[in-house]
Amino acid sequence: MKNKYIIVEKLNTGVGIITLNRPKVYNALCTDLLAEVSNAIINLDQDLKIGAIVITGGDKVFAAGADIKELSTLDFSSAYMNEFIKKQWLVLEKHNKPIIAAVSGFALGGGCELALLCDFIICDDSAKFGQPEIKLGIMPGAGGTQRLTKAVGKAKAMQMCLTGDIIDAKEAKNYGLIAKIVSEDSVLNEAIVMASKIATMSQPVVKLIKDSINNTYELNLQSGLEYERQSFYTTLALEDKVEGIKAFIEKRKANFLNK
Ligand code: HXC
Repeated sequence: MKNKYIIVEKLNTGVGIITLNRPKVYNALCTDLLAEVSNAIINLDQDLKIGAIVITGGDKVFAAGADIKELSTLDFSSAYMNEFIKKQWLVLEKHNKPIIAAVSGFALGGGCELALLCDFIICDDSAKFGQPEIKLGIMPGAGGTQRLTKAVGKAKAMQMCLTGDIIDAKEAKNYGLIAKIVSEDSVLNEAIVMASKIATMSQPVVKLIKDSINNTYELNLQSGLEYERQSFYTTLALEDKVEGIKAFIEKRKANFLNK
């Protein structure tokens, strides 16, 4: 089906790019847009040629949050009974391939939450992150009180969610919200370079590492360490482990087969 709100591209370096494309409303995340993103993720996850995904909103804005016009029509019972955005969001949360959020401009409300559920964020100096829902008389509903707190700590998350204050790229970097600030106009390219690098790695190892790091959200330290150790043992059974070490000894680049 043709997308109305996003553009999906596949690069021959094994990278899938999802561009949010509602520039007139700052890429406001209406339900249909989120459904398109979740379908795109499912398709890219199933494509064996794709090793990593980049989500971008273009060079002006990442996303200014849920579509406020759509929110204005929503009441408690319809949102609750129809589980507003839950289906689309669950798909995004369960993605298999690593996703890099490439952020320029505003990443607010659901836009900040979308960036936070990616595996990591890179941005340029124009990036601004915030959870301004409280100013609309509502609250974050897709990770803003949870993932943001894990990323930046309680004090900063409380400040951001309770005041609606927006932080810039430098502050976001200081608080560990983002992996890297790059120069303006290069954020998408830089994300593609990183994603292409990940796509050359052994995909089972990439997934084991991603799952192991994400498990720090769910498990206590000993369980997490045990999961990591078992995952490490698992990598020893891969053909890619033999190839990776052989390539190192032969001083050449490894050619992983994802087995
Ligand atoms: C719908 C939006 C929008 C949004 C911007 N627009 N954000 N439309 N939903 N979230 C529209 C504006 O109405 C305007 O359309 C156009 O985009 C440009 O916005 P301006 O306000 O004119 O631009 P600017 O002065 O540069 O201010 C940018 C801004 C501001 C700071 C990002 O637009 C803003 O505060 N937006 C709302 C941010 C927000 O509150 N997000 C949280 C949403 S709630 P017109 O037609 O007038 O030109 C949320 C809950 C998530 O995310 C819950 C779970 C998913």
